[in-house]
Amino acid sequence: MNQNTYIQSGEWVIISRGKNTFSFKKKIFNNLRFRIFIIVLLAGLVPSVVALFGIVKVYESRAVSLRTAEIQNQCTILTNQISASHYFEDTSQEVVNDSLNQLTNIYNGRVMVIDDLLRVVKDTYSLDEGKLDVSESVVRCMKGTSTNNYDKKNHYIEVTAPITIPGEDQIRGVILASVSTDSIEDSLDVLYTQGSVIIGLVMIFLTIVAVFAADRVVRPLHQIAATIENVSAGYSDDVLHVDTFTETKSISEAINKMMGRLKLLDDSREEFVSNVSHELKTPMTSMKVLADSLLEQENLPVEMYQEFMGDIAKEIDRENKIITDLLSLVKMDKKGQTLNIESVNINELLEQILKRLKPIAEKKNVEIVMESFRPVTAEIDETKLSLAISNLVENAVKYNHDNGWVHVSLNADHKFFYVKVEDSGIGIPKEDQAHVFERFFRVDKSHSREIGGTGLGLAIARNAVIAHRGAIKVFSEEGEGTTFTVRIPLIYTAS
Ligand SMILES: Nc1ncnc2c1ncn2[C@@H]1O[C@H](COP(=O)(O)OP(=O)(O)O)[C@@H](O)[C@H]1O
Ligand SMILES: [Mg+2]
Repeated sequence: MNQNTYIQSGEWVIISRGKNTFSFKKKIFNNLRFRIFIIVLLAGLVPSVVALFGIVKVYESRAVSLRTAEIQNQCTILTNQISASHYFEDTSQEVVNDSLNQLTNIYNGRVMVIDDLLRVVKDTYSLDEGKLDVSESVVRCMKGTSTNNYDKKNHYIEVTAPITIPGEDQIRGVILASVSTDSIEDSLDVLYTQGSVIIGLVMIFLTIVAVFAADRVVRPLHQIAATIENVSAGYSDDVLHVDTFTETKSISEAINKMMGRLKLLDDSREEFVSNVSHELKTPMTSMKVLADSLLEQENLPVEMYQEFMGDIAKEIDRENKIITDLLSLVKMDKKGQTLNIESVNINELLEQILKRLKPIAEKKNVEIVMESFRPVTAEIDETKLSLAISNLVENAVKYNHDNGWVHVSLNADHKFFYVKVEDSGIGIPKEDQAHVFERFFRVDKSHSREIGGTGLGLAIARNAVIAHRGAIKVFSEEGEGTTFTVRIPLIYTAS
């Protein structure tokens, strides 16, 4: 179902819209700029809010304890006054009542005097006079402990103080003062309002900072992406120089390195293709020339036809050999190629190879000697490895002098077996030794062609050896001879 079908049916539109909103949200959240923005904002907002609440809390508890201490002081003064003036015997004493009212007015509160029978003898609100007060704080105070209590919910502080008569141990009564904390509450509101304004300003400032910071971090990444986008058309080295941060610098360097490698790969692929075309074209050109010369001349003797057709057949063989070699090379080049691993008797394998090559050696009267130091059995892909060793021995015969020799030896230790192919041939110049394993490389192109070489044999051999996790090396003295050594593990390990 595509997007259009969603839109056609009313029911589906909602589903598709919901999906889009979800992916849009996900996209936004995955956006680095957005995340940096949010992080900066949170980094500012969270501590500010915590600080504001902290400050308000500290202020509140401090204000409450100060207020409590004040009321306690006032109550102590009042208890002294009450006990000195024998207030319980006459509660209409102006002086004491004035003091009680004064406290009530100043602190916007209520003061009650309670006698030892828990009866309210004076209430500045005149509401509870004559009633009993058996509240917990009053009872406790009657036993000698002054109490204070902050009721945050109802906004008041309640303080009790015992009244004692000088010279008597007994407690004669209790003074109970409750004062409103509305003024403290107002101050808290002001603090909250001002704090919020400051936080708001900080947030505005942080939003600006966050936008710039996010942009600054993200911009070099965009720059990198844009540059990569531009160069994806072709490979050139050292294209990226985004040195804004250490990280982007190392990304740039890594990308430049990768581009360099891609360029190398690309170059070698191009070279390979042009080499292949060239190599495949050469026999074709020869065939065309041979065929044309037959066509151009009339009444040619049959022998002439036979000779030319023989030459054409040779060129076809050559073309065939190049294609076969290329195919085996490409097959081995493939990543993750599967080897057909079996336990193989290497001594027998070498003998078979030498037997197969004997006819070529006999043509040049080259003597092949095999020397094996011990019986060797190893886990190998028989076809691939025998192709590799055949190529080495074939080269040793082909690039040899008439009446020369080839010496093949087999040895092993507890981990590897070693095959050495030595010859008394023409040797390889020092400067070419590093290149002999390259595809289509030949020291002497015309000589190699003459003896039917494609320049792929050693590349194939090297690939086969490497696939077995082995190693191949060349040692040579020009004019004296060449030695190839191959080292292969006895036990194959896949990775
Ligand atoms: N044993 C050797 N002695 C001298 N030169 C050699 C020997 N083996 C390889 N070479 C050189 O290395 C080149 C590459 O070898 P190879 O890949 O087998 O290709 P070719 O098809 O030409 O044999 C040869 O063309 C030859 O010049
Ligand atoms: Mg060869």
